[in-house]
Order: sequence, then C-alpha cells, then structure tokens
Amino acid sequence: MNVNNKKIILAVSASIAAYKTPELVRLLVKAGAEVQVLMTPAAADFVTPLSLATVSKKEVFANVSNHAQWNNHVHLGRWADVLLIAPCSANTLAKMANGLCDNIVQAVYLSATCPVLVAPAMDDDMWHHPATKANLATIQAYGNKVIAPEHGELASGIVGMGRMADPVNILAYLNTFFEPAKAVQNHFKRALITAGPTYEKLDPVRFIGNYSTGKMGIAFARVLAEQGTQVDLVLGPTSEQVAIPGVEVHPVESAQEMYDKCLSLYDKADIAIMTAAVADFRPVTKAGEKIKKKEGDEHMLLELVKNPDILATLGSLKKEQILVGFALETNNELENAKKKLQKKNADYIVLNSLNDSGAGFGQETNKVSIISAQHVEELPLQSKYEVAQSVIKYLISQ
Ligand code: C5P
Repeated sequence: MNVNNKKIILAVSASIAAYKTPELVRLLVKAGAEVQVLMTPAAADFVTPLSLATVSKKEVFANVSNHAQWNNHVHLGRWADVLLIAPCSANTLAKMANGLCDNIVQAVYLSATCPVLVAPAMDDDMWHHPATKANLATIQAYGNKVIAPEHGELASGIVGMGRMADPVNILAYLNTFFEPAKAVQNHFKRALITAGPTYEKLDPVRFIGNYSTGKMGIAFARVLAEQGTQVDLVLGPTSEQVAIPGVEVHPVESAQEMYDKCLSLYDKADIAIMTAAVADFRPVTKAGEKIKKKEGDEHMLLELVKNPDILATLGSLKKEQILVGFALETNNELENAKKKLQKKNADYIVLNSLNDSGAGFGQETNKVSIISAQHVEELPLQSKYEVAQSVIKYLISQ
C-alpha cells in the first residue's frame, strides 16, 4: 500500500516552508493521491492559492466561508484518509494543542476523524522553546503523528533544527504510513544506533578523525522514532543537531566511549544499527600538553593501538537482537562485505561503495545493498531518509 488512490487533505499554515508545498502536492498527485488543499489565511502570504489550486486541480479553501458559501469542515474531515498539516507553524501547533478554532485548518483538524500528521517548520529557537516541546507532546498524546523537521539552513540564516521535512521524505513517510499499521513498532520497540565519526585525541587540541557526518544513522533514528520505536542514538562528534521526538542522543567522542555506551544499552535493544565510522586505531599516548615540534624535526612517528570493534563485540554478545553493520568499501565490495558479515556475527551488512556517485560521506543521498547470509538486495540511489526506510522495510519483511 502507498498513497495511490488515497484522499489527502494538505493543510498549509504560515511558514516560509509553504513555498515547498506546490512541489509536495505535485509529488502526491503524481503518486496517485487526490489532494484537497486548505490554507490558513496568513499562509497566502507565503504561497498563492492559485499555485496550489493548479497543481492539485481543486479549489483551495482558505476560509470557513466565502460569504456566499460555507465550506463543510466536518465533511472534509470525514472525507480524507489522512490530514497532513505541512508546514505546521509554531502558531498552528499551539492552536492544535489548545483546541482553538479560528480558521478552516483548525476547524477541519478538530472535526477530523482520519489520522492527522504534522510536519513542523519553524526557526531553531522556536523549535527548542519549552512551549513548542509541550505543544508537540500534547498533540502526540492526542494521537497525532509528527514528521520530524530536519537540520539545515533556516529562513533566518541560522543553521539549525526546524526545516520542514523535505517533500520527498514526506511522501516516503506517507507511503510507509499506509503500510499495515504499526509494523515497525511491533518488530522493534527499542533501537540502538551508532552514527558519526570518532575523534581519537593526540593532545588537547588535535585528534585523528574522519569525514563522517552521521547523516545516515540520524536518518535511521528518525525513521524508527517516527514509527514508534524508542531510539538510543550514540553519536560521535558532528555538526548535525538532532532533536527528534523519541530519540535519546548519547554524545560520545572516542571509539572507547562509543563502545562503553553501546555495551550499556545493547541489552535493552531489539535492533542495533552500527552506521558510525569508528576509528580502527587510537594514539597509544594522549599528550597532556600540546605537542610541540622540536628544532630539526623532519618526521614524527605516531604509535597507534587498536580500538575495540563495537560491531564485533555486539555480535559476540548477541541474543535476540537483529544486528546490522555498515561497510564502506572501495574494492572487492561484495566479497569484503560478506566476510564482514561472518567475522562480526552480524545479521545484515549494508554495503555502500565510494565508487557510486551520490553515495557516502556528507552526501544527502546514498546507494546501498543489503547483504545477509542468503541474499543480496540492491537498492536504488535514494535520499538517506528513504534508504533508512527501505532498509527497515526490508528487515521487517524477512
Ligand atoms: O571493519 P569495518 O570497520 O569496515 O566495519 C564497519 C562496521 O563495523 C560498521 O558498521 C562500523 O560502525 C562497525 N565498527 C565498529 N567498531 C569499530 C570499527 C567498525 O562498530 N571499531
């Protein structure tokens, strides 16, 4: 099942992210959905009703009445298979939490008998405000689902949390939403995910690190949390910020810290997904003061010692958990990934190759294959969010 033949109300509220809604409507219509657009009166400052009416091929309602005609909000709320409020501004969120009813979006929301999904969009500070957090918790307690915002550049110029989820990812969320209900939550109540690089200190100001951003692991955390799984995300040093409802972030720096944290959380997990780019070695000694070069030094030798292998250790301790490792290979990809599967006693290895364009460190997209003892499943190039969705869907189908 997916959005094909589904009746979707898209309610647009007044956020700059409203400029993305014609694209969202186009994606939904292309995927076979019937879309009725509603807007709050202020949303028309950000996107024109004419654009949305054109792409949805339906009149857009921005008021409960147009003086000559009453728009039946009760009928609309019963007609739809889902009410999607995107973008959901801080103001609309607050009204939803408090049952206010001063525009057509609120009237349809309050009378809707269908499931309600919201894709919040607001500035970083607004997203982190305790009032917003409380409002989110309230609307979730009412049974509404939140499509978590993403991290990135915001209208204010600030880089932070609060960008509305990308339309492609909203479509992917909806497609999964129409799959048999709660499949993910039934399989995986709790997940342990590692993400990002590790930094291995040389002295107080230097470290050995790598280019991993943690985006792939964060996408897994987002997908699982959105489906009701409680997520422990053990996150190495990264500029990515994570404020996703249902995801507890455990910041760590070194491989040893990541190892210790994972071991303390592993017992509770039903699934562990190791996406982190963990340093294989760390300096034998960590200088207490900044290492100085001496007169005449042309070379410097660093002595390194092996770090513990987190994935292999979890593999050796495995009970009921599903254990998923990642492999970034540059040559003999499949053969090496299969060896890794055995050596680390993992159930699956997700292989990404640096040879594929659009895949790997820092990219928004990824192209992977899922390798198990019996089968190799190749996935197309997709956004990291879609990759995470496809992998989870595949694991559940096994
Ligand atoms: O052996 P290799 O580093 O290529 O294996 C990659 C997989 O193992 C990834 O899932 C990575 O997160 C995990 N790993 C780990 N601990 C290490 C090294 C890698 O968990 N010390």
